Amino acid sequence: MISAVNIATTVTLALVLTLLTTSSCVTAQAEPAPTRAFQRPATVPHPESNPYTPGKFALGRKLFFDPRLSRDNDISCATCHNPAHGWEDGRALAVGSGQAVHERHSPTLENLAWAPALLWDGRAPTLESQVWFPLTAHDEMAQDVRELMAELGADQSYVEHFRDVFPERGISLITLSAAIATFEREIVSG
Ligand code: HEC
Repeated sequence: MISAVNIATTVTLALVLTLLTTSSCVTAQAEPAPTRAFQRPATVPHPESNPYTPGKFALGRKLFFDPRLSRDNDISCATCHNPAHGWEDGRALAVGSGQAVHERHSPTLENLAWAPALLWDGRAPTLESQVWFPLTAHDEMAQDVRELMAELGADQSYVEHFRDVFPERGISLITLSAAIATFEREIVSG
């Protein structure tokens, strides 16, 4: 005897089986074959508000490798972002001024010209605004920015370099950050 319930069960089972087979076929077919390997763009984008110049790049590089940027004049940006370690420091957690252990790992600085946001939680929107974080963080460079400006202002080679690159503006946190950001944008993977 064929009951209505039996018919309904058979039809439902047949439907489920059809759906399962069809959907697995669709998934298998939808897998796109990779066509080419990732390649970074050939030119580095610099923002209109902070255009590239060779002098600004050179100033940024000098500042990036200068330990005077830290409170105790012992740590430069390159201590934690070391080109010999892929622009990191080879440690699990960063170690800052006064041997303070940071709660986070120092990330590489490669290809940041294309980064939509910076820091592990994305709280810095641009490379220019990011510079303030490591300069002042107690577990990074622990610097007093006014003291740093006075220190750089007492060095004639910095006074001249800043004047050449920023004729109207001279040494300030903004010009220092602009120069470092220009240098950083040019750090790209091979
Ligand atoms: C004591 C080690 C240390 C020093 C010194 C240091 N950094 Fe970092 N840097 C870090 C750590 C740790 C992070 C991740 C921090 C976070 O996400 O909160 C970081 C993150 C960054 C990032 C974000 C990278 C990304 O992928 O989002 C940039 C850019 C950066 N640092 C640039 C600099 C510059 C410029 C200097 C010098 C002015 C500097 N750092 C000095 C440890 C350091």
